[in-house]
Amino acid sequence: MREIRITPSILNADWNNLGAEIEKISAASDFIHLDIMDNVFVPNFTFDFNKAKSIISSTSIPIDSHLMVADVDEIAVAYAAAGSASVTVHVEAVRDLRATVKGIRREGARAAIAFKPGTEIDEYAQYLDEVDMFLIMTVEPGFGGQAFIEAMLDKIRRTRLMIGERPIWLQVDGGISLETIERAATAGADTFVAGSAVFKAEDPLKMVQALREKARISQ
Ligand code: DX5
Ligand code: ZN
Repeated sequence: MREIRITPSILNADWNNLGAEIEKISAASDFIHLDIMDNVFVPNFTFDFNKAKSIISSTSIPIDSHLMVADVDEIAVAYAAAGSASVTVHVEAVRDLRATVKGIRREGARAAIAFKPGTEIDEYAQYLDEVDMFLIMTVEPGFGGQAFIEAMLDKIRRTRLMIGERPIWLQVDGGISLETIERAATAGADTFVAGSAVFKAEDPLKMVQALREKARISQ
């Protein structure tokens, strides 16, 4: 049995009351997933670096920074230095992947690489011994509340096979709900981002617990 991690995304939380929103779910969450969008790599903007830094330093749960920004190499290392527990870069946005993941790790964070739905994983097998997590996007990055792309299940399965016995986490992000988490976990994911499913739930804390249990029994 693989260890399951739930990493709620605050993209659709109430940003005016972020402290209270995070407090609601902290008891059951492994990380807080912070979506950074620059309005270039994706058609949406969330936080600039200074705002992100203040969220990272004021949150007691480890932060999983998901960088959806163009030209990500240097800023990724800065997010690690700012105290993120994990930093994810998109393979579509990075110039020197090897140097960037090395730089993230050097700052003491876990290094992860993300794939948009249209990007294939095969040529990234060469980085398996240099990264701590693969993120398979199960929606087009940019917005919360989109429908899970079922065709990504096959990619999740193939990524799990590629990882083999290595201690690399396999994260999925987009459209994860009590219904879709089951299939994603069966396909081999072990780390789950959930935004609207958690923050639109009547009881966000209970939802995080329910997602974890669903994933655990679906493996
Ligand atoms: C989308 C973001 C996601 C988003 C997920 O580009 O990367 O993390 O918050 O939101 P839901 O769970 O609502 O699909
Ligand atoms: Zn995300």
